[in-house]
Amino acid sequence: MKFGVCYYPEQWPEARWAVDAQMMHDAGLQIVRIAEFAWAAMEPADGRYTWTWLDKAIQTLAEAGLQIILGTPTAAPPVWLTRAYPDVLRQDANGRGRSHGTRRHTCPNSPTYRRYSQRIVQMMVTRYGQDPCIIGWQVDNEFGGGKTGRCYCPHCAAAFRTWLQARYGRIEHLNEAWGTVFWSQTYANWAEINPPDTAIDKPNPSHVLDYYRFSSDSLGTYQQQQVDMIHAGAPGRFVTHNFMGLFRDLNQFDLAAALDFITWDNYPTGNPERWRRYLLPVGEAAGPVVDYAYDVGDPVITGMAHDLMRGLKQRPFWIMEQQCGHINWGHTNPGIRPRTTRLWCWHALAHGAEAILFFRWRATLFAQEQYHSGLLRHDGRPDVGWADLKTMQAERALLAQIAAASLAAEVAILWQYDDLWALQEQPHHHDYDYMRQLFVFYQALSSSGISVDIVSPMADLSRYKVVLAPTLHVTSSPVVAALQAYVRGGGHLLLGVRSGFKQASNVVTAVPLPGALSDLAGVTVTDWQSLPPPAGWVLQTEVPGLSGLATYWVEALQPHGARPLASYEHGASAFTEHGVANGRVYYLGLYPTPAQATAVCHYLLAGVGITPLVNLPPGLVARCRGPYTILLNFTDHPLTAHIHGRDTRVAARDIMVLDQASLEG
Ligand code: GAL
Repeated sequence: MKFGVCYYPEQWPEARWAVDAQMMHDAGLQIVRIAEFAWAAMEPADGRYTWTWLDKAIQTLAEAGLQIILGTPTAAPPVWLTRAYPDVLRQDANGRGRSHGTRRHTCPNSPTYRRYSQRIVQMMVTRYGQDPCIIGWQVDNEFGGGKTGRCYCPHCAAAFRTWLQARYGRIEHLNEAWGTVFWSQTYANWAEINPPDTAIDKPNPSHVLDYYRFSSDSLGTYQQQQVDMIHAGAPGRFVTHNFMGLFRDLNQFDLAAALDFITWDNYPTGNPERWRRYLLPVGEAAGPVVDYAYDVGDPVITGMAHDLMRGLKQRPFWIMEQQCGHINWGHTNPGIRPRTTRLWCWHALAHGAEAILFFRWRATLFAQEQYHSGLLRHDGRPDVGWADLKTMQAERALLAQIAAASLAAEVAILWQYDDLWALQEQPHHHDYDYMRQLFVFYQALSSSGISVDIVSPMADLSRYKVVLAPTLHVTSSPVVAALQAYVRGGGHLLLGVRSGFKQASNVVTAVPLPGALSDLAGVTVTDWQSLPPPAGWVLQTEVPGLSGLATYWVEALQPHGARPLASYEHGASAFTEHGVANGRVYYLGLYPTPAQATAVCHYLLAGVGITPLVNLPPGLVARCRGPYTILLNFTDHPLTAHIHGRDTRVAARDIMVLDQASLEG
């Protein structure tokens, strides 16, 4: 397990660099990321490069024994570029342009921006590609951050038309796929198509979904150019990008595919605050029900982000930016107490982190992030994360052993950005969000101590005993084929409400629901309803815990081959099980409460011989990595878990590691 830090030498006097580098080394840090916003310092005027400072910074850090990650600076272009070529600036959906003075204000489809981005990256690669101190590269910074995942400028409109042409071939095919006969939307040629107008009434959902896909692909091709240049000019160095957990606007699976491994930016007090409204019904979104300590965030939400990040490539990840004090962009930005940073690091490790870099070395004296903390305070004295870093130095051997252990989840949840985007456009119920439907199952598994990979349906599913697809809404032939292969090979698949409803172009299937998944599920959905609370259909079942009311979204199922496991009062089935070759397919026709989701998960786990941890007290997280069970207490009071046959007490905001070998011995 390596530790590192994000450092901005261009923001500090040169005379300070050697002091900082030595302090980093003495603190046990091994890696430092630099340069990702320093374009103006590298190229102060068009074609005039100033590398001396960066040479010196690299040399100073390397002399202190630090390994360096270089960031390409394309998230923060210099003002001369945006002045000379205003067409590099992005436009929002209302046609409003961005201007200089922030970051990510450019368009990935601007040919000028691409040309200049490639030039600065090529210059960096030529200069530093073979430098032995540089172990890897970060492309750009947080694609899509600050609501920049989609641009609506004329370059994007043109590129969108080309993208559509490649996808549909003929304009007639697009008209048919989108159903443009509706409201006289029919197009006679490609030039008539613009980005969807989200300002007036409702745009066509097929148009919207394609625009979201196109926007994500645009950043994908933009990224690919940099990846190719770095691979060519910096052999043997890794290429990565810093992702944003449960960020919604880009297909993170696609972006991850081009990278050697992924890293992500973990801000546990800020991110869960942002994501909670997508994950919990409106009434519960205000704050966590569990009495977590005030400065730890919501570990189940952070855990879900870790598991999606691990699932992007089905392999461990790095944390490129780890919060180590207060941030500056949350609701209240709570001060962080001693032991919290350590708790977060152990949490990341338990979910598959291999290295952690703290954000940032020292709090900045100026500009946008003055109120953001670092390992050092503004005045250069250690801040709260520093002592935790010292504690973790003493734990280094154990951290390294766990980081080297494999994390083999037996359960996966499927995540499709097409589903997220299609349902975001047409939720039909104000409390229906794709991520909410996934989270209720994730939460159930997490509170049972079950490790989960969150993966694309096109991932290698054969490694999982159970795969949950809580809402496989948009189907395509490859996805249906992948699920069929998984089940025939012995897998157990759960399908949930609204599955099979849409075809790839975001139009409804004309086949009885669940459409292309009907044969697999062995049921027909004869009726579906969105229910306003507190309405519900009464459940009758022998599945322990799956009782009470089905609320929010209900589907009446008629089995054809499947066996009912639960039904509604009025007789239709609510939950079914269908044997297919060596595997099984379950269909759950309701949006479950947390208790109902737990009941369903335990039923499925029992079917494959996985034993959940029961009675984990709320606030205690348990994760297995290799032979280790890592217990993490996110509350301000001690908690006891009965685990592996004995009671284990974990102190407030502390961790405990149980080693299988010592337990057996
Ligand atoms: C991240 C970003 C960093 C910094 C940080 C502050 O999203 O990548 O550059 O702004 O947030 O928390």
